[in-house]
Amino acid sequence: MSRIVYVNGTYLPEGEATVSIFDRGFLMADGVYEVTTVLDGKLIDFDGHLTRLQRSLDELDIANPMSRDEWLEVHRQLVAQNGVDQGMIYLQVTRGAPGDRDFIFPDPETTTPTVVLFTQSNPTLIDSPKAAKGIKVITIDDIRWGRRDIKTVQLLYPSMGKMMAIKAGADDAWLTQDGEVTEGTSNNAYIIKNGRIITRALSNDILHGITRAAVLRFAREAQMPVEERSFTVDEAKTADEAFVTSASTFVMPVVEIDGARLGEGKPGPMALRLREIYIEESRKAAV
Ligand code: PDD
Repeated sequence: MSRIVYVNGTYLPEGEATVSIFDRGFLMADGVYEVTTVLDGKLIDFDGHLTRLQRSLDELDIANPMSRDEWLEVHRQLVAQNGVDQGMIYLQVTRGAPGDRDFIFPDPETTTPTVVLFTQSNPTLIDSPKAAKGIKVITIDDIRWGRRDIKTVQLLYPSMGKMMAIKAGADDAWLTQDGEVTEGTSNNAYIIKNGRIITRALSNDILHGITRAAVLRFAREAQMPVEERSFTVDEAKTADEAFVTSASTFVMPVVEIDGARLGEGKPGPMALRLREIYIEESRKAAV
């Protein structure tokens, strides 16, 4: 069945949706995005994603083309029109399509942002076979640019990282800088040692994950100690447990880092508990 997608104010079948070849998102990766989880046909952490969208747009000097309520309406329309129960909504805003290719930003009076949204269903979001088994990660150099806090559509290196992981027989890659883990290719990274959850502090080095914020809040509420600090690959390899978080994976246990098995090589109890709490609490608060 063809999906209904949203492009610049219009809902239409995916096969009829078009964007200009001069769009700066296409030519220069001059755009930002958000991925919001859909659970039971409702949106998880919608306001968190919109707040981060606003911040990303502000950092790049792109005007937000819609109000919160307009964004919410488009999200809800797409969920309804596509009958999404479990999955996600992808949202992208670019600086738009001026007539020519030019490094200089176009005049925002004449070039308005391009807005695209579409849904993706994922029936195994909750009952994820990967979450039951845990994932294996390799570590690779973090050679991305210095503003990883802005959620831009420059995703070539994260894609290459995932391909390197698959080639090495793993599932994903953790990125490292000066021997310390920054984050995963498309998720935030955590280790657990002696009952303490350790994850890199917020800075321009990592994306400020919406799932990260929720999981750390739930962990603290459940009296699980949290340390927001950098950790090395060596420390990670000898951790008791590890996991990653993102809107599309929730809390995903990690069972192997660069070939070193963690604990018994199975998802750890704290990671599994956090996954349960996250799903339960997010379900309750979904809009
Ligand atoms: N990725 N770090 C990076 C580099 C990411 O790309 C993501 C999200 C995260 C987690 O952020 P959040 O919890 O807000 O989803 C951290 C999305 C899911 C993606 O690109 O598909």
